[in-house]
Amino acid sequence: MNARVVVLPGDGIGPEVVDAALGVLAAAAEPGGHRIDLDRHAIGGAAIRQHGTPLPADTLSACRSADAVLLGAVGDPAFDQAPRHLRPERGLLDIRKALGVYANLRPARLWPGLESTGPLRAERVEGTDLIFVRELTGGLYFGEPRGIDAQFASAVNTMAYSRLEVERVAEHAFRLAARRRRRLTSVDKANVLEVSQLWRRVVEDVAARHPDVVLDHMYVDACAMALALDPRQFDVVLTENLFGDILSDEAGAIVGSLGLLPSASLGDGVGLFEPVHGSAPTLAGRDVANPIGMILSVAMMLRHGLRLEHEASAVEQAVASTLAGGARTADLVEPGRGSAIGCREMARLIADRVRVRVSSTVPSS
Ligand code: IPM
Ligand code: MN
Repeated sequence: MNARVVVLPGDGIGPEVVDAALGVLAAAAEPGGHRIDLDRHAIGGAAIRQHGTPLPADTLSACRSADAVLLGAVGDPAFDQAPRHLRPERGLLDIRKALGVYANLRPARLWPGLESTGPLRAERVEGTDLIFVRELTGGLYFGEPRGIDAQFASAVNTMAYSRLEVERVAEHAFRLAARRRRRLTSVDKANVLEVSQLWRRVVEDVAARHPDVVLDHMYVDACAMALALDPRQFDVVLTENLFGDILSDEAGAIVGSLGLLPSASLGDGVGLFEPVHGSAPTLAGRDVANPIGMILSVAMMLRHGLRLEHEASAVEQAVASTLAGGARTADLVEPGRGSAIGCREMARLIADRVRVRVSSTVPSS
C-alpha cells in the first residue's frame, strides 16, 4: 500500500510526540512493505510565527488531498492576548471545520498495570473501556452569533444544532456501539437547553434504526459524576462538542493520565488524528512528555484512515505490553514507586515491540 500522510506537529510538545510516534508508524508499516510518504506542514502558533496565520492555505490544501492527517498539538501562551483569528486554537478549529470531521472518537481505557496511577481507587477504574463520540464541527464552539464588545461589557456564544448535524454523528455512534458492547449513552442538558431537547429527539429517532443497541440518556452534570463513581458502566458516550471536550479530560484522570488518550476525527473525507492532550508548554523541549496518546492516535490512523487493522492492533498491543512491563513516563509514575523514562525512550520501546509483532503475526484478513 502507498499512502500520503500530512503531518502537522504544531506547538509545545506537539513536535516531540509527533517525532516519537512517527518512529512507531515506521515500525508498523515497514515490515508489510507499506510505503507512507510524510508531508510536514505548519499549524497553530508555529504557523502564525512562520506565515502570519494559524492555518495557512497550503497546509489546508495539503490536508484535503492527503490519505490522513496526523496532528500533534496547538496552543502557545505567547498568543493569549491575540485576537481570535490570530490564536493557535483557531487553526485547529478551522481545519476540523474545513475537513468536515464531525465525529470525534476518543477512547479511554484502563491499561493493565495502571490501576493505581490515577487518583481514583483501583477497584473502581480497572476494566474501564469506553469511547466518547464527541460532535466536533458544531455546537457552542461554532454557533452564531458570537462575539465580545470592545469594552468587555458583554459577550455572547450560541449553542446551535440542526437535525442533520445531530443525526449524522448519532448514526456514527450507533454503528460504533453495534461493533462494541451495544450500549450507548447520549449526554445532554435537556432539562434546561432546547438544543438538548432537539438532540435527544433526534438521537431517539436514530435509535429506532438500531434496535440492537441499548440507548440511555444522561444529563451532563450527572454524567461527570457517574464517570468518576463507576466508569465501567459506559460503552459509547455520544455528546455535544463542548460537553465532550470537558468529559474527555475527566476520562484522562480516570485512566491515569490525559497523556494516554488518542483521538480520531472522522467525516465523509480525510480523517484527522490527534491526541486529546494539548501543547503542554511547560513540558515542551525536555523529552518528558508522554507519547502514548500520539502513538495510539497513529494506531487509530492505521485503522480508520489507512485501513491497516493488523498494524493498528499491533501498535495497541505493543502499548499494552510496554506498560504492563513497567515502563512509565513522568506523568505515570506513582509517588515513591520507580523512575521515569523520557518521551523518546518510551516510543522506542513501543516501536521495537511493534516491529516484532507486525513481522511475526499473520494478518487475520
Ligand atoms: C481538544 C482541545 C481543543 C478543543 C482546543 C485546543 C481548541 O482542548 O482537542 O480537546 O477544545 O477542542
Ligand atoms: Mn480539550
